[in-house]
Amino acid sequence: MRAAVLESTGTPLRIVDDISLEAPRTGEVRVRIVACGVCHSDLSLCRGSFPLMGPTIPGHEAAGVVVECGPGVGDLAVGDHVVLSPAPACGRCAYCAKGAFSVCANSVGIATSSFPDGSTRLSRPDGIVHRGLNLAAWADEVVVPEQGAIRVHPDLPLDVACVIGCAVQTGVGAVVNTAPVHPGDAVVVFGAGGVGISVVQGAVLAGAATIVVSDPSPDRRALALRFGATHVVDPAADDPVAVVHSLTGIGADVAVDAAGSAALVEQALAAVRSGGTAVMVGAPPAEDEARVGVAAALFTEKRLVGSLLGSCWAPRDIPRLVDLWQAGRLDLDGLVTRRRPLEEVDAALDDLEAGRGLRTVLMVS
Ligand SMILES: NC(=O)c1ccc[n+]([C@@H]2O[C@H](COP(=O)([O-])OP(=O)(O)OC[C@H]3O[C@@H](n4cnc5c(N)ncnc54)[C@H](O)[C@@H]3O)[C@@H](O)[C@H]2O)c1
Ligand SMILES: [Zn+2]
Ligand SMILES: [Zn+2]
Repeated sequence: MRAAVLESTGTPLRIVDDISLEAPRTGEVRVRIVACGVCHSDLSLCRGSFPLMGPTIPGHEAAGVVVECGPGVGDLAVGDHVVLSPAPACGRCAYCAKGAFSVCANSVGIATSSFPDGSTRLSRPDGIVHRGLNLAAWADEVVVPEQGAIRVHPDLPLDVACVIGCAVQTGVGAVVNTAPVHPGDAVVVFGAGGVGISVVQGAVLAGAATIVVSDPSPDRRALALRFGATHVVDPAADDPVAVVHSLTGIGADVAVDAAGSAALVEQALAAVRSGGTAVMVGAPPAEDEARVGVAAALFTEKRLVGSLLGSCWAPRDIPRLVDLWQAGRLDLDGLVTRRRPLEEVDAALDDLEAGRGLRTVLMVS
């Protein structure tokens, strides 16, 4: 099959057509990819801030059509339209048993670029190819566990629905699942990309009264206001922490780092009130470390929490995000600012790096 392959970090991707994908095993389905978004985590993999295991197919924000069901698949059939989750929970492990679906022990591939058993099911004549960010969807087809493929109505446009797979699950989930935000709350968001804008939309849905967005890009600040931010800050001109404190008096109830750096995690902690919650959504390089004053953390009862894919559980959260979109309460069409063929993947990565547009979706078939 055809795929976009990253050979080594910092190099352009190569579009090739000699990739082999193994047939689905028990409980798995093979999906023809229709569309796949370009997320900053793909950029981090391609530019080297995430580790690369070898030749890798990135792409983890996808939607498509089921073309083959492995043995034992019960709930999906050939022809079903599906949105894919890059973090499908198995429902059986010790974490799933405690309801911690987003850290399922069998959904480790975001870090390993392989299935839990170490296989990737992807190869080419000279050896194995890795399954980037647990999906490898910048390709004609993928194989996924059935619990990671959520059926949607066949009338829905898959080139829009695909952004639910990462940006929207992550951003809205960080607000409604991880934090969570309550009606009347004050929320501050650092970073207004596809993820940060989804945090803003989640905050609107949750009934936040004040939504402050800090982003150095004037275009992104304008978009944030359009999606429901009540205030925007240019961190190059003003201190967002001071702005949040002057607006709220005590600090924000919830602060979200949706850009990904240790410095922003420290800002998020400084921006929340005593008893408030700082949520880490942005993915910094693995070696980044933030400083936390332990005594201050104790006396202020501030909470610092990680949020992987919005603490979402795909079978529950993807249908509810689709329902909100169909009810006109979640703007997914506005998130997708450009569509490009798979062959233009490098131009799409350049646009993301430069902050041009919001989300580009690669049209695969
Ligand atoms: N936790 C998860 O499960 C998860 C899922 C998806 C993406 N991510 C991560 O979330 C982050 C955002 O992804 P995206 O696709 O929206 O990226 P993006 O590149 O579209 O947006 C990032 C935004 O952050 C802004 N920014 C940069 N420096 C800033 C600063 N100092 N203060 C405020 N804003 C700043 C940029 O101008 C840009 O608008 C990335 O780190 C990505 O890897 C995490
Ligand atoms: Zn992503
Ligand atoms: Zn599990």
